[in-house]
Amino acid sequence: MRILYKIAAIACLLINIGVSSNAQEYPFRNKNLSSEARVNDLIAHMTLDEKIDMLESDFFYRGCERLGLPPFETADGPLGIASWGLKGRATAFPSQLSLAASWNRSLAQHLGGVYAQECRARGIHVFYGPGVNIYRSSKDSRNFEYMGEDPYLAAEMAVPFIQSIQAGGVMATIKHFVANDQEFDRYKVSSEVSERALHEIYYPPFKAAIQRGGVHAVMMGYNLVNGVYCAQNKYLMTDILRNAWGFRGNIMSDWGATHSTLASIEAGLDMELGTFDYLNREKLLPLIESGKLKESQIDDRVRHILEPCFALGFFDRPTAKELSIPTYNEAANRMAYDEACEGIILLKNERHILPLRSPKTIAVIGPNANPNIVDDNTFDVKGCSFGGGGSSKVNPWYVVNDMEGIRRAFPEARILYSEGVSNAYKRKLFKQSAFRTKDGKRGLYARYYALDTQENRMSNEPKISRIDPNVNFRWEEGASAIQSLGLDYQIEWEGTMASEKNDSILFFVDAQGGYRLIVDDKVVIDERMSQSFANRYVKIASQKGRKHAVRLEYWNRRCNPGEIRMGWDYASAVDYSEAVRLAKQADCVVFCGGLDASLEFEGTDRLFELPYGQDELIMALAQANPNIIVALHGGGAMRMSTWIDRVPAVLHLLYPGQEGGTALGHILSGKVNPSAKLPFTIEREWKDSPAYGNYDETRKERKVHYREGIYVGYRGYEHKGIKPLFPFGHGLSYTSFTYENLTVSVVDRKKAVVKVALDVTNTGQKEGAEVVELYVHDPVSKVDRPYKELKNFEKVWLKAGETKRVEMTLQADAFSYYDEHRHRWVLERGDFDILVGASSADIRQKARVRL
Ligand code: BGC
Repeated sequence: MRILYKIAAIACLLINIGVSSNAQEYPFRNKNLSSEARVNDLIAHMTLDEKIDMLESDFFYRGCERLGLPPFETADGPLGIASWGLKGRATAFPSQLSLAASWNRSLAQHLGGVYAQECRARGIHVFYGPGVNIYRSSKDSRNFEYMGEDPYLAAEMAVPFIQSIQAGGVMATIKHFVANDQEFDRYKVSSEVSERALHEIYYPPFKAAIQRGGVHAVMMGYNLVNGVYCAQNKYLMTDILRNAWGFRGNIMSDWGATHSTLASIEAGLDMELGTFDYLNREKLLPLIESGKLKESQIDDRVRHILEPCFALGFFDRPTAKELSIPTYNEAANRMAYDEACEGIILLKNERHILPLRSPKTIAVIGPNANPNIVDDNTFDVKGCSFGGGGSSKVNPWYVVNDMEGIRRAFPEARILYSEGVSNAYKRKLFKQSAFRTKDGKRGLYARYYALDTQENRMSNEPKISRIDPNVNFRWEEGASAIQSLGLDYQIEWEGTMASEKNDSILFFVDAQGGYRLIVDDKVVIDERMSQSFANRYVKIASQKGRKHAVRLEYWNRRCNPGEIRMGWDYASAVDYSEAVRLAKQADCVVFCGGLDASLEFEGTDRLFELPYGQDELIMALAQANPNIIVALHGGGAMRMSTWIDRVPAVLHLLYPGQEGGTALGHILSGKVNPSAKLPFTIEREWKDSPAYGNYDETRKERKVHYREGIYVGYRGYEHKGIKPLFPFGHGLSYTSFTYENLTVSVVDRKKAVVKVALDVTNTGQKEGAEVVELYVHDPVSKVDRPYKELKNFEKVWLKAGETKRVEMTLQADAFSYYDEHRHRWVLERGDFDILVGASSADIRQKARVRL
């Protein structure tokens, strides 16, 4: 529904709202005046109705025909121009997480410039990106749209991107403010988070975007923070954004996330995005007439929205597509390639198996090797693995998938291919599985009951009884199909399935909410108490002619969306023998797997485990051929501990964009030396995560308690004493580097400015780049502080044998913490440890400095 609405919104825009060309010459048209003077003049000429109309937006900022003001078109990001297919194709860049993995500020800066071109070529003025929510948990299916777990790294990558997209005349929108760190129950969940954690972990990238990046728009999160919706949260919008950080631009809600009129305006919201329900004439005029709101409050909103439009020159250039800039842009394609090369992380490389040395035969296996099918009519890129799903989905001009990239990089080699297991395997089963009712009709008898808050049925009479052809449902809260049930409900499905083969049966159930599967009167899966999502399967012995009684019970306790799917298959249908046969014939195997856009998208979180079948397939392949390289797609950590010790090499591609396959091929062949490092931690098991137990276990209270406080990511693993599989900041190269001669000097004691310098040498045979990471630790402090915190980094390019002196500066904020009692940052003077290393767990040089 939401998606359909978005498409309709853009379609309306494309019909193009006419703008009268003979508009009078007002002072606001005078380029020589300041933006402030121009917007004030404009406001003075607008009627109250016209001003109110400006406060609603979808994919364009409203115009005003009478005054000759055009509407300004907006587009989604942040992986390129995403327009639900309606603005045509665009360059599909790697994920923002890939950008963070490059640790390359100048790449971010170049990228911002190219994004500006992409926008202007399409007549787009406002870009809904970048995203800088913190990677709190690996299950958040939007991590790929953000910049990782460390606030400093996220800030450093966001600032140059924003500066350059805005220097190119396009408004950036930093999103989603704040603590919008999970998709599970995203519309209703309250992030219960401490003031210190907000200031030290969740705010910094937003603050930097405003104060250093000069971003002109902020999008508020869907969620609540400490009990108040972000888009009507006075503390966040007025106390923090406006008063503490001095933000002058537009504060908009997320799409459909405005919940009130007076409360939102009083809290500081400027623009209602996506819906037209609250900041409209009907609701605002009576409030003004009754004196509850002043017209000047509306003027302020218009000023916040339009002053940046003047500042970026929107009124002084054509609003249409700029034909001098190509829509199909070779420079953008090259940028997508460069970013992909710097965003693919080499996690493991035993026996120096990579780069590959002229293999004669390569077996390319896996669901993500060849998946990027874009339907030209529907623009459906479901199942693609160049990017994740949701509003960030770009409709690319072309995609070089992994297999194609490998083929091009090894023109002499014979390439063998098998999908092995499909990421759409379960999807198909859920649609196609055949069930019969006890009396032989196609489908299952279904009974839908409303529950009270104690989980008792409101009545023993079901609200709905019907036959469902199969169980394959997703309901957003209030969906018409289940509306009569209220927020808490229970459903039972009953039927049979008949086996036609001498084989065992696999039953699969994927659900958000609690459920039990009962086969032949035996409970075979019990997830009744599950509050979020749990995907399980079970194998049942069977034989030809056997009929199994199947009963599925589902409890939804305010879990949004409610989702439940069930399917079955013969155990022998999942067959890896072809893939294994090819693996045996080849010199090496490249397994291309992980997640894709159909498994990782906004609105629902994802599992930590790999999709069904991949773990087993990797193990079977590793046994068949020890020269196996695992190449994973996906927006963060996935469980690798099952097979990691059996494979010599692993690459994490994240979502590498349209040139991902080319970059992968070049990394495998050694044409490109990998230089990316993890912007997040890869845990061994989900239970190791600092967020474990405090994530989607929100129960009915719909609160997620950020109990780990400031101990997020590597800060958290170190605090818990848990060694992750791959630490934050880890990433290998085909060459090696040494760190020597660290010097630390105090440049300005009063201001606490410290200069850190060291020699970094490329001691290997290949040219390469190294990310040098600088962490700070305060050994004695009144408050608990992390073992280390990233406070600077530098990426340095070195020829074989070359040494460079790397210099980094630390300012007072690198040593400070946020004092919750005094409500301010505090620098406690004394000794600080300076730790320089190749990852958060690989500190190579240490020194102590006294401040
Ligand atoms: C997303 C935003 C996006 C907006 C407009 C929302 O669902 O959360 O990131 O910009 O839609 O498409």
